[in-house]
Amino acid sequence: MTAYFNGRFMEKDEIRISPDDRGFLFSDSLYEVIRHYPGLLFRPEAHIRRLNHGAAHLRLACRDFSHLIPVARDLIRQNHLADQDALVYIQVTRGTAPRNHPFPDPASEPTVYICVSCFDPAVKDRQRKTGIHAITVPDIRWARCDMKTTGLTANVLACQQAAENKAGEAIFVRDGVLLEGTHSSFMAVFDDTVITAPLSNYILGGITRETVLDLCRDLDIRVLQEPVYESRIHLASELMVTGTTTEITPITTLNTRPVGNGKPGPVAKALQAAFASKIQQLQKQAPWFSPMKKGENSLKLSETP
Ligand SMILES: Cc1ncc(COP(=O)(O)O)c(C=O)c1O
Repeated sequence: MTAYFNGRFMEKDEIRISPDDRGFLFSDSLYEVIRHYPGLLFRPEAHIRRLNHGAAHLRLACRDFSHLIPVARDLIRQNHLADQDALVYIQVTRGTAPRNHPFPDPASEPTVYICVSCFDPAVKDRQRKTGIHAITVPDIRWARCDMKTTGLTANVLACQQAAENKAGEAIFVRDGVLLEGTHSSFMAVFDDTVITAPLSNYILGGITRETVLDLCRDLDIRVLQEPVYESRIHLASELMVTGTTTEITPITTLNTRPVGNGKPGPVAKALQAAFASKIQQLQKQAPWFSPMKKGENSLKLSETP
């Protein structure tokens, strides 16, 4: 696979990251995962907006990564994924410097890494149809969850706990409020109204969450961005998680208790259909990618910023 590392397209296996990289030493680092549907990179500008938000708050030497969008598209083409389902992974770190907590002075050049991979949507498609089991876990994360940092230890532990309980996701609960999943946003339906936690430092501003809230407005589904309380969760008729690979997945059992009638509900199904037609519509509008020959780089090194 061809990947991109600090301004160069390289074989992924040949990339060498320094043990002094602050991403490795401190998780002083941000990431994004962008979904590619055949012919369509989905909302890359929104992902870069979120990356830039994190870069500004981490005070990285670079705070605008919009130049990475053509690089991501180019990687898709170079790896012959233009007509396939794929994922783009982007990671930027503060860079490399001898280990010391304060920022390096003078500032280090951020490390920038992008790779792409094939994505088989079959498992997620099945989960979207049948729904998933989910568990709740105490939110032991820090108080800047709005930044998509690679410091994911709490998410990893919670997701593992979900897996060990045969659940597809764990939902973080802070002060009696269900906030979000380990890798997804969380929504509940009460009396035909979709309720999801308001944007704050305690959740990641999900790109899919944003898309789904727009779809709710298109479908005349009432939305409230307010806390979803654990004490009232048994009254919800539907629960769902949303995310880049998750899209819109109903939760049919929470902590072994069925949600509603224990089947995917009408709001989730309507949103899934609207999401699918939005993707189809965007695919039709997307400029067609001509597949490239192996080893051919359309973007020359000298052209990369
Ligand atoms: C903690 C967390 N919340 C929400 C999301 C959903 O965000 P998005 O819809 O941008 O994928 C993710 C995605 O990885 C996540 O890690």
